[in-house]
Amino acid sequence: MGVVGRDRGRSVVITKYSFQIPRRRFLQAAAAIAAVNIVPAKAWAQGGNDERQLVVKPGRAALRGEGYPETAVWTYDGVVPGPLLRIRQGEPFRVVVENKLEEDTTVHWHGIRLPNAMDGVPGLTQPPIRPGESFVYEFTPPDAGTFWYHPHSNSLEQLGRGLAGVLIVDETEPVPVDRDRLWTLRDWRVTSKGQVASGFGNMMEAGMSGRLGNTVTLNGAVPGSQRVRAGERVRLRLVNVSLARIMRLRFEGHDPLVIAVDGQPCQPHTPDDGHILLGPAMRIDLMIDMTGSPGRRYPVIDDFYEGLEYRLTELAYASEAPVRTVFPKPFVLPANPLPEPDLSAAERHELVLEGGMMGRGMMQGMGGMRGMAQAIWSINGTSMAGDGHAGTAPLLTLGRGKTHLITMRNQTAWWHPMHLHGFSFRVLTRNGAAVPHRRWADTVLMAPEDTIEIAFVADAPGDWMLHCHVTDHQMTGLMTVLRVADAEDRR
Ligand code: C2O
Ligand code: CU
Ligand code: CU
Repeated sequence: MGVVGRDRGRSVVITKYSFQIPRRRFLQAAAAIAAVNIVPAKAWAQGGNDERQLVVKPGRAALRGEGYPETAVWTYDGVVPGPLLRIRQGEPFRVVVENKLEEDTTVHWHGIRLPNAMDGVPGLTQPPIRPGESFVYEFTPPDAGTFWYHPHSNSLEQLGRGLAGVLIVDETEPVPVDRDRLWTLRDWRVTSKGQVASGFGNMMEAGMSGRLGNTVTLNGAVPGSQRVRAGERVRLRLVNVSLARIMRLRFEGHDPLVIAVDGQPCQPHTPDDGHILLGPAMRIDLMIDMTGSPGRRYPVIDDFYEGLEYRLTELAYASEAPVRTVFPKPFVLPANPLPEPDLSAAERHELVLEGGMMGRGMMQGMGGMRGMAQAIWSINGTSMAGDGHAGTAPLLTLGRGKTHLITMRNQTAWWHPMHLHGFSFRVLTRNGAAVPHRRWADTVLMAPEDTIEIAFVADAPGDWMLHCHVTDHQMTGLMTVLRVADAEDRR
C-alpha cells in the first residue's frame, strides 16, 4: 500500500528522493581545543505552571507556505500544531478547554500519568465537551519529557483536520544542551485545491495501512531547511502526530543518540542501523552534536515506505566557525519516578491482535463485521469500534498495585503502534530477544507478526484505553479497555 495521491502540486513533499546520497561522514579528529561546558538551553520553563486556556476552533493554516491557498483546519487556539504547552515536572497544571467546534470533543494528554478522570476519553472517563461548553483538566505531571495532546472524540477526523499539540514537561534541573528544539511531524491528505481531503473512514484503508497523507509538515509547515551552528549540542524532540504515517529517519553526516523514548529517559544509544523509527504518537528525544562543516547542508531522509523515500528536511549550517570541536560526554537524562515492575511476582496476560487485510486471522477479524459494521480488527476476538465508549466492559481487570506482564501478539500483516493510556511500560522483549537500553514507552510499534512483552505496575485505578494509534485501526476495532481495580472491586 503506497502513499495515496503523491506528487499532486509542486509543494507536495512526498516525492521520490532522487539525489545521490552523500557518503556518510565520520567525525573528524578534533584538532582544536574547545570548551566542554554547555550552558542549558533558555527555553526551559521557569517557575510554576500558569493556568492555561485552550480553545478548540476552526482556523486556517499555511501548510504549503506562501503563494498557496491556506488550508481550512481545526485548531487549538487558532494554530496548527496546537500551542506548545511547556510546564514543570511535579507542579500542578490546570487548563480550561473550550469547545468552539460544531461537534463534541475532549482532550487526551498522551503519555502523561494522571488521574483517570483527567484522561479525556468521552463516555469512559468524562462526558464529552459539547459545542459551546468547557472542561477543566487538572493534573500534576510526575514525569519530565516530551508528551502531546489530542482529541479522543471523532478521532480520525479531528486529528486528521489538525487537532494535535505538544506538551513538554521540563526537568526540575535544566539539561546541558545549547538548544532544545522540537519537530512536530505529521502528514496531511491535501487536495489539489489545498484543502484537507474528506473521505475519513475509508474501510479499504482502515484494513490496511490507514489514512496516509501526501504532504508532510514540520511544526505546521512544509519543511524548509533547519538552521544549525557547527559545534552545538542540540536536544531534538521528534513527535509524530500523524494519523497513520510511520517514519524512519536518517540524519546524513550525523550520529544522533536516542536519549528518551515516549518522554521517558533511556540509556543514550545509537538507533538501530542508524535509523530512527517513529510510529504515530511516538516521541523520541535525540542528542545531536553538530559535527558538520560550517556552510554545508545535510539531508534528513525518511525512507520507511519502500520506493517512497523522500527528503524530510536538511540541517543547514551557518557559516560561523564551530562553537566547539570537542564535545563533552553524552549526558543521561534524570530518570522519572516510575514504579519498577517486579517480574518475579507478575500477573501474566495475553493480547492477540487479528484482522485487517491479507493476514492470518483475517477471517476472524472480518467476521465481526456482521455484528458491528465497523469492526475490521480485533483484540482477543473482541472489537471495540467507533468513539462511543460508554458502557464498554473491560477486556481485562488488573489488580491494582501489582506488576502485569502482557504479551502482545500481532497476528496481522500490518504495523501497529500499540498505545496504553495512563501508564508507561517497560518493553521487555521483542520476538523473544531482550530489548536493550532499559526502554520505557507508552506506544510500542509492532511490525507484522511481532510478539512483544511489556510490563508495568498498575498503580492508577480506573478504566484505561489500549489501542492502536493508527487512527483508522483504532476506530475499526483495534481498541480495548483495561480496568485497574482493587481485588475486592474486581468483577
Ligand atoms: Cu494518543 Cu488514546 O491516545
Ligand atoms: Cu494516550
Ligand atoms: Cu494498527
